[in-house]
Amino acid sequence: MGCNWTIQCLYWLPSYFLSVGSKSCDNICNLNIEPNQMSSVSLQLFINNEWQDAVSKRSFPTINPATGEVICQVAEADKADVDKAVKAAREAFRFGSPWRRMDASDRGLLLSRLADAIERDTAYLAELETLDNGKPYAVSYSVDVPMVVKCLRYYAGWADKWEGKTIPIDGDFFCYTRHEPIGVCGQIIPWNFPLLMQAWKLGPALATGNTVVMKVAEQTPLTALYVASLIKEVGFPPGVVNILPGMGPSAGSAITSHMDVDKVAFTGSTEVGHLIQQASGSSNLKKVTLELGGKSPNIIMSDANMAEAVEQSHFALFFNQGQCCCAGSRTYVQDTIYDEFMERSVERAKSRVVGDPFNMKTEHPLTSTGKRSGKREGAKLMCGGGVAADRGYFIQPTIFGDVQDGMTIAREEIFGPVMQILKFKTLEEVVERANDTKYGLAAAVFTKDIDKAHYISSGLRAGTVWINCYDVFGAQAPFGGYKYSGNGRELGEYGLDNYTEVKTVTIKVPQKNS
Ligand SMILES: *[C@@H]1O[C@H](CO)[C@@H](O)[C@H](O)[C@H]1NC(C)=O
Ligand SMILES: *[C@@H]1O[C@H](CO)[C@@H](O)[C@H](O)[C@H]1NC(C)=O
Repeated sequence: MGCNWTIQCLYWLPSYFLSVGSKSCDNICNLNIEPNQMSSVSLQLFINNEWQDAVSKRSFPTINPATGEVICQVAEADKADVDKAVKAAREAFRFGSPWRRMDASDRGLLLSRLADAIERDTAYLAELETLDNGKPYAVSYSVDVPMVVKCLRYYAGWADKWEGKTIPIDGDFFCYTRHEPIGVCGQIIPWNFPLLMQAWKLGPALATGNTVVMKVAEQTPLTALYVASLIKEVGFPPGVVNILPGMGPSAGSAITSHMDVDKVAFTGSTEVGHLIQQASGSSNLKKVTLELGGKSPNIIMSDANMAEAVEQSHFALFFNQGQCCCAGSRTYVQDTIYDEFMERSVERAKSRVVGDPFNMKTEHPLTSTGKRSGKREGAKLMCGGGVAADRGYFIQPTIFGDVQDGMTIAREEIFGPVMQILKFKTLEEVVERANDTKYGLAAAVFTKDIDKAHYISSGLRAGTVWINCYDVFGAQAPFGGYKYSGNGRELGEYGLDNYTEVKTVTIKVPQKNS
């Protein structure tokens, strides 16, 4: 691997997206974790700050998607392990426990130390993430890990600033609210951004004083396990965070139906979101927050800056190989610029550098097998459509034109590098059509006209609207879905609400000295 690259090498990522600035990264290239050099990562379950085999003694292979080869075997949690982890988390949450007695500022300090330890080990974590997930190393290093660090630091700051209110109720009473942790939180995270989704879940849960049983995706367990060792290193008390690699139907469903789990937070498919909501309903009515699928519209008005709109729309769909819940997967282009936009988008997609994720120029490797949409229903294949390499899981960047709203590729989430381009005439029409979906996660509009931008952003039913940009995230700004795209919000101050119970305390205040 060539070592002399700088962040400028990532010309294919929007500059606002790069968290590490333009420093030279010469020191990061010598690492090369071989499958037999996994000694820094413990491959067991992390329960009560101890590494343990699964009760069943079972393990499963985790695979490098770039080669299809097994990296290593990881312990496989199921119901018996979930029971142990929930017990540890419950004990850590007991009234009077070290965690419950800890000053809020010290909870913040622990989160802050965790962020420091992750930052210290950026190169290692980035390499591990790329090995296990397949995303470009340059992205793991300069986007994923720095965003993790920022998220944890952001929530570290909140730990001692999450205040209740005093409330002027009638009568001789003093009334105030306490913002208390919910309790034992089950968290189930996906494989597309393993480290980042872990941070989005741990940050608000720990800042507010909850304890956690986290199931990590079976495709990408390695970085979460390494972070578990850092959680122990920086001094979180035993049982506060428990990390379990395992499968959805066994470990995942043991968490969602557990009678002693107070809340479940899930990021993944809408199908599984339904199951989780049901499991809560038929067990203990645990609180459920869900961040689910999307079919996000990206609207290009004829007055948009063409070069920007093409590049950003390309990024909106192809970033992370289309494996983003908020991917801009319905690109609506105004009829007068449709042909030019299409031509330039196809050119851009064809120039996308496909290959080894450890090559710094690679924009496009691919993890998981993706859902290959066979049903074109008359859409026009403009480029791609095939498998891009003879080993590993690569799919060519693909664009469909002349897509109609009713087609399966315009309605169902594909979760792969497949762009749908649709034509529209008027503003009113496109808002109507963009909204005509069961999802409501994100949307975008490209225009130079501020009136149109406001009209569209207030008309669309989506949790996030980007104007003249896409996929801009900050730990400070909430993210979540309308409609089938989810429940509750993550990130920002709003993210704290969904990890908090509000307690009202009312004290009689005698007005006379009797
Ligand atoms: C989408 O929004 C428009 C404008 O706000 C509204 O007229 C339409 O009913 C919405 N459609 C759906 C399916 O939500
Ligand atoms: C999340 O918190 C908001 C308050 O900000 C609340 O209205 C909502 O009901 C919560 N959602 C869930 C699913 O708990």
